[in-house]
Amino acid sequence: MSKKIIKGGWIATASDFFQGDILIEGEKIVQIGGNIVDPDAEIIDASGKYVFPGGIDPHTHLDMPFNNTVTDDDWETGTIAAAFGGTTTIIDFALTAGESKLANAVEKWHKKAEGKAVVDYGFHLMIHDLNDETEKELPILLEKEGISSIKVFMAYAKEFQASDRTLFKAFKIGKETGVVVMVHCENGSVIDELVEEARRKGHTAPIYHALTRPPEVEGEATKRAIELAHIAGAKLYVVHVTCKEAVEEIIRAREKGYEVYGETCPPYLVLDQTALEKPGFEGAKYVWSPPLRPKSHQEPLWNALKAKQLQTIGSDMCSFNYNGKKRLGLNDFSKIPNGGPFIEDRFSVLFSEGVAKGRISITDFVDMIATSAAKIFNLYPQKGTIAVGSDADIVIFDPTVKRTISAETHHMNVDYNPFEGMEVTGEPVSVLLRGEFIIKDKEFVGKIGGGKYIHRSLAKEPKKETQIIN
Ligand code: URP
Ligand code: ZN
Ligand code: ZN
Ligand code: ZN
Repeated sequence: MSKKIIKGGWIATASDFFQGDILIEGEKIVQIGGNIVDPDAEIIDASGKYVFPGGIDPHTHLDMPFNNTVTDDDWETGTIAAAFGGTTTIIDFALTAGESKLANAVEKWHKKAEGKAVVDYGFHLMIHDLNDETEKELPILLEKEGISSIKVFMAYAKEFQASDRTLFKAFKIGKETGVVVMVHCENGSVIDELVEEARRKGHTAPIYHALTRPPEVEGEATKRAIELAHIAGAKLYVVHVTCKEAVEEIIRAREKGYEVYGETCPPYLVLDQTALEKPGFEGAKYVWSPPLRPKSHQEPLWNALKAKQLQTIGSDMCSFNYNGKKRLGLNDFSKIPNGGPFIEDRFSVLFSEGVAKGRISITDFVDMIATSAAKIFNLYPQKGTIAVGSDADIVIFDPTVKRTISAETHHMNVDYNPFEGMEVTGEPVSVLLRGEFIIKDKEFVGKIGGGKYIHRSLAKEPKKETQIIN
């Protein structure tokens, strides 16, 4: 078995930060220590660099049919971009809308990924509607495929939105099986009405995307999801939290002891709603859901991350070319495909805006970019940390280099980058997946199709009895 020593780097996990060496044998980390010597090992000099566990992106949409089209990054281009960005595992949403058997959707997603993915991956199973048959099929399928998370949309009335009844049934199945239920929290029916009203008034510009999905519809849906999950006794994970209203509901629930997790995404931390007002049709580059908010919502998001009331950073990668599919909505904002290209810059933007600017600590950064997601989605400790026995998924990161984000240099299959022109501090230099380089000195050296599907355990944690001590 091949051996490597990553030598002299500053190793960061969610709990520690220290200088040391890592010995890798085959796919695994076998030793961590002060000065490891092994004459058979290849030496990788990491002095002056940070050494992070590979990033885990729990929120991607690759090769996904959506809004009458399909996303522009598939499993090859999307995962190569992920690798350049320091992400070694993604969890993508397998869509089931329109499938009579849920298993068909999973098979479809396996076919999209196999032979293409260059990083490891899992799936969350989307639940659109449940009937007697799919209700029976679901727990068996989750166990068989090792899928420990399901996803329900409360928005996209015409495509994905589930009824409250289906949402509640999903929570009941979450409770029975132990899987975490992820929810897109926006009131889709109210949004649909606001969109129709705007269209009747002749409003066509991209900014109306944001104006017809105000923060209150996110806050209201977040509260509804929280209460319904609580009645059913399910674990809830709120995807892409964007605003003060939703953060407040999550904090309130957590303070009552509800098992609720929250994710936010880089654009909500650094961009704001005025981007949708750019002249001409340029605002379309920033159309995704929930929308960008006024700047005043950024601080509550940073504070909630710092206080660990929000735990993870997903990319919500869902890319459409500006001089291409985004143009479907040239004369009608409601037809602009929703989504943006984020898989590549998730890691760097959080490091630069978070750690380099002193908003979060380096250990909290690792928690948000990898460890928390690994724990919530049952990948831990195989993934999400640097520990003996863990997969050797490692990012060697230069914390001093400055670079400017641009579509000219990114690797995603789209003609624009929402962070265009932003200067960031720090960059992944080399990335290893299960002990092998996939990025070496900023060059892609991985294998197309070298990413593996990860079966996740559905084992439930033993529940503690609540004890009242007088
Ligand atoms: O606009 C977005 N976020 N597109 C992807 C689908 C979703 O809601 O996550
Ligand atoms: Zn399968
Ligand atoms: Zn969503
Ligand atoms: Zn999404």
